[in-house]
Amino acid sequence: MVSSNAKVSGSRPLGGRMAAVKDMAGYLRALFEVEREFVSSATTLIYRVGDVELKYLLCQHVWEAAGHARFLRERGRELSGFGKGESVRSKFRNIFEEAISPNDAIQAVAGFYRVLKPALLSAYETYLEETNHLADWPSSKLVEEFILDEKRHAEEIQPYLRSNESSDWEKHLELCLNAVGGWLTHRPSVPLPDDFQWSFTDRPYCHPDTCNRGDYPVCSSVFGNEPSEDPIVREWLEDPKTDARVIRLMVYIWLMMELDAVDYLATVFYDTREAPFDMHFDLARHLWDESRHSQFGFRQLPKLGVDLSKLEHSLDLYNILVQMSPAERYAMMTMEFEAGSFPTKAKVMDRVRELNDFEADTLLAFDRNDEQGHVRYGHRWLPEIMQLLGETRPVAEFVDATRIRFEALAKEFGGITPHSLSPEERVTGSDLLKLATVEA
Ligand SMILES: [Fe+2]
Ligand SMILES: [Fe+2]
Repeated sequence: MVSSNAKVSGSRPLGGRMAAVKDMAGYLRALFEVEREFVSSATTLIYRVGDVELKYLLCQHVWEAAGHARFLRERGRELSGFGKGESVRSKFRNIFEEAISPNDAIQAVAGFYRVLKPALLSAYETYLEETNHLADWPSSKLVEEFILDEKRHAEEIQPYLRSNESSDWEKHLELCLNAVGGWLTHRPSVPLPDDFQWSFTDRPYCHPDTCNRGDYPVCSSVFGNEPSEDPIVREWLEDPKTDARVIRLMVYIWLMMELDAVDYLATVFYDTREAPFDMHFDLARHLWDESRHSQFGFRQLPKLGVDLSKLEHSLDLYNILVQMSPAERYAMMTMEFEAGSFPTKAKVMDRVRELNDFEADTLLAFDRNDEQGHVRYGHRWLPEIMQLLGETRPVAEFVDATRIRFEALAKEFGGITPHSLSPEERVTGSDLLKLATVEA
């Protein structure tokens, strides 16, 4: 597309009366599709990378991309020519499908951040160059902001990439982008070479059976009843005689383990790509919230003396839920785990308040507030996901059946991750008790 707004002085508009608006709306549409498709495909990187900080960063970038997409859509809808609907053109979708295809997750991350996102930054820069800043002020201000975000994303990801050399994989993705004329489709298309092979057509993407936690020790579950075996001792959590400092350590471990919610929720986006964008926007918020809840524990525990290299990560929930449909995954998450967590968390919050630890109280208060939002998302979006999958049972009946199916799958896919560390090596309830009493 050649923009009629291109700065050719004195030139007459190339198209019809509204051509200037339609050209820019076409650009905004393309940018919306790219940001939205980033959300539903880059989420597949989250459970495949092992570095916890990288998981958190990806959740943050996905949330920001969802924000860009929403603002682009809102502004685009004010303009003639943005088009109806929210679907992504197949030639864009193919590129993202290709980008997630490497088995090596860091290679895939590099493809996104060294090819697809720099091309997005350059598309935003082109937008600013071509539009009229007075006439199209609302879009210009948005795009100026997004350019700053994209530049920051590029810096933030840098520590997680391997080298600065462009790999064969990155060159392969460049070819895909050149074939569509860049994200604004405004450059002449460069046909793919004759020997070009799409990876995803041979090997359709599917979620791994387990999530990656890198060098961290793992186990099936951190909840149990044995102080010498398990870090979160259920009885202690509810017992009014338990030292509040022990409760605080346990709740931070509980929060940190919400990383399992990060990993399994991240699988839902790719499986529901035809969902309304508003659903992915709320899911992106949900995902980012869980990544912050996990950080509450991940950042606080070392300050309280817990050695994170000895704290096992629980994998059961991902392992079981990935066997279920996205509607079942989302139903278990919102209608069962989240809706069911409030009474225990309320007791825990009251115990922690005994410590006059303002930071802990604040983190728990925001966690509770966020969780209330997540249950609302569940009520709003579960029926939509069910509809998308052709599920016709009433919601309550579906949720009941899902609980039963989860129990059955838990027998087969739960409890299969052995402890990486012996009870003496790993953090247990008894260790927390010692740590809490010494800490004072
Ligand atoms: Fe949470
Ligand atoms: Fe939540």
